[in-house]
Amino acid sequence: MSTAVTSPAATPPLLELRKVSRRFGARPDLAARIAIGIGAAKPLPVVHALDEIDLTIREGEVLGLVGESGCGKSTLGRIAAGILTPSQGQVFWKGEDRANLRGRRKRDADLEAQMIFQNPMAALNPRMSVEALVAEAPKVHGLIKGNSGSYVDEYLRKAGFDAGMKNRLPHQFSGGQRARVNIARALAVQPDFLVCDESVAALDVSIQAQILNLFMDLREQLDLTYLFVSHDLGVVEHVSDRVAIMYLGRIIEEAPVDEVFARPNHPYTQQLLAEVPRIRPGKRRFAAMKGELPSPLNPPKGCHFHPRCPLAHDRCRLEAPKMREIAPGHRSACHLNDKQAA
Ligand SMILES: Nc1ncnc2c1ncn2[C@@H]1O[C@H](COP(=O)(O)OP(=O)(O)OP(=O)(O)O)[C@@H](O)[C@H]1O
Ligand code: SF4
Ligand SMILES: [Mg+2]
Repeated sequence: MSTAVTSPAATPPLLELRKVSRRFGARPDLAARIAIGIGAAKPLPVVHALDEIDLTIREGEVLGLVGESGCGKSTLGRIAAGILTPSQGQVFWKGEDRANLRGRRKRDADLEAQMIFQNPMAALNPRMSVEALVAEAPKVHGLIKGNSGSYVDEYLRKAGFDAGMKNRLPHQFSGGQRARVNIARALAVQPDFLVCDESVAALDVSIQAQILNLFMDLREQLDLTYLFVSHDLGVVEHVSDRVAIMYLGRIIEEAPVDEVFARPNHPYTQQLLAEVPRIRPGKRRFAAMKGELPSPLNPPKGCHFHPRCPLAHDRCRLEAPKMREIAPGHRSACHLNDKQAA
């Protein structure tokens, strides 16, 4: 969505993450579940899903978030949407620390940020009609007074769904139509910010394009801000103003979209964006990368990327590189930038 109506660089921050970390107790495997069952369990190891993330999203911008599976994108998305709290660090929403919000202000903040998931079917109760699904949250929060009909019609129309079919159940629709119902549900609480987590990944390519165009239209009509998580570099390139690249719980590079695709700085980004054979026209998936992604249970010391980095040197194994601005709006975390600056 690089044809922004306003210049996002000039708008105030909507969301700011400051040194946000999130840890989880690891999900127990079969052996651990048996050990728990017989009372012989050892403490479960800790997953470092996010590690001191600093990130700002400005009003009106679309930030694309990419990285390999398990690097922490959904965890970051859930924290950004306010449905998960950090283990450490602060999340500022419209300038206020989310942890300090109470009562009506907290309720408003909860509604102002909405998340749209990959699988609309899992998010939609199969026994509720489309109308009931879209009306549910606005009714609970007092946005609908009296009959929900015209309110629901308006949001279904915004999402490009035929309101004449609102009495049907979700399974009676195609994946694309269900995605629209899911979007109408999110819009119906009048959010400012949408976190789209692989929101088009399950759809056919032609339907994906329609839903992406819908997101772009909604951005202009409703002044929306987006955090857009996707494995598909073509999608990210198409929709984003800025892109953040994650590796093993850290953001390692951040830049305007054209800059990151034209001049990737971090060795990981360079490998990630290396040209790959196109599976289908318009699809750019990640390049296959040498070496396995290390486990977030035991991330490597220093630069997390050093075991796979062709340019790794002694310092990389000991010291985590800091994010450094290398061009206006372009930040990257690699020790090689210190050498160039020196
Ligand atoms: N509720 C949870 N309990 C335990 N571990 C979790 C939980 N949620 C996420 N994790 C772990 O945190 C790490 C980051 O997970 P996350 O889902 O954020 O990654 P992701 O980048 O979204 O991956 P994908 O691209 O596969 O969706 C993973 O190791 C994951 O197993
Ligand atoms: S800090 Fe070192 S290991 Fe990490 S990306 Fe840069 S050169 Fe490679
Ligand atoms: Mg995910």
